[in-house]
Amino acid sequence: MKHFLEINQLSRGGAKHLIERAFALKHSSIQPAYPLTTVANLFYENSTRTRVSFEMAARRLSMPVINLDLQNSSESKGETLTDTIANLAAMGIAGFVIRHSEEGLPKRIAEQFDRKIHVINAGDGKHEHPTQAMLDMMTIMEQKPYVDQIKIAIVGDLRHSRVANSMQNLCKLLQVKELVLVAPSIWLPEKIHHGRTTTSLQEGIADADVVICLRVQKERLKTGEELDFARYHRDYAITANTVKYAKADAMVMHPGPINRGVELDSEVADGPQAFILKQVQNGVFMRMAILEALMQHAS
Ligand code: NCD
Repeated sequence: MKHFLEINQLSRGGAKHLIERAFALKHSSIQPAYPLTTVANLFYENSTRTRVSFEMAARRLSMPVINLDLQNSSESKGETLTDTIANLAAMGIAGFVIRHSEEGLPKRIAEQFDRKIHVINAGDGKHEHPTQAMLDMMTIMEQKPYVDQIKIAIVGDLRHSRVANSMQNLCKLLQVKELVLVAPSIWLPEKIHHGRTTTSLQEGIADADVVICLRVQKERLKTGEELDFARYHRDYAITANTVKYAKADAMVMHPGPINRGVELDSEVADGPQAFILKQVQNGVFMRMAILEALMQHAS
């Protein structure tokens, strides 16, 4: 694999192999080392988890990491992103982890610099966030390995969620038994990649094995898409009461950052059914497996 840009570039076997490799890295004391490969983190949108997770993953693989301070970079002097990348590549940086508000930008950079660099999509606008879906699936399979026998419900702001897009594609690829997308009608996805939709939380998460709760993305809401948060909480929040619609051993997940008391109550977020910090922990190993797969690509 030369780049990791979207879930649909993977075969079923390829996706399973990456997840298995992430488990192996998690449980092994010996880690491969790539001290000659430098990775640059280019985050043009805010991030805590994903940026640090990639940094941790690269460091565990002995890769030097550069975190670009984009507020103080030459792009603030008018340099184009392409020129920035060309300069960093000229210094020998080989891996570029890119988060950007423009959909398709990581792919465009990958095509433009194909022979020289490796690109990982760390979230492009509302399009995809493929490493998040992979770490989410790893976390699910750690508890429930037979995904062809489980029901997953994704609840919340599906219309603006790149996490949900990547997860739909991954559920399709790995033949998850049932995928239900739950949202108020104004936040249902414009394009459904996989699964069925419902506006009823009770019906949507009934007997679910996994409930993935999405953040209400206030910064992405356009005029006419806003919703009263108190009403949203009443009708769609995962609370100590609503979680009971799902199976008694259902996993509750969230990609973070959580708006406590909006989409998810603290009682559940900090309770025994929550796997949110497990997602964060697994993310480092999943990203190691992805970085390693890129390094093994003969360029
Ligand atoms: C997500 C993102 O930025 O797409 N967060 C993350 O990467 N863990 C989801 C979100 O912002 O709600």
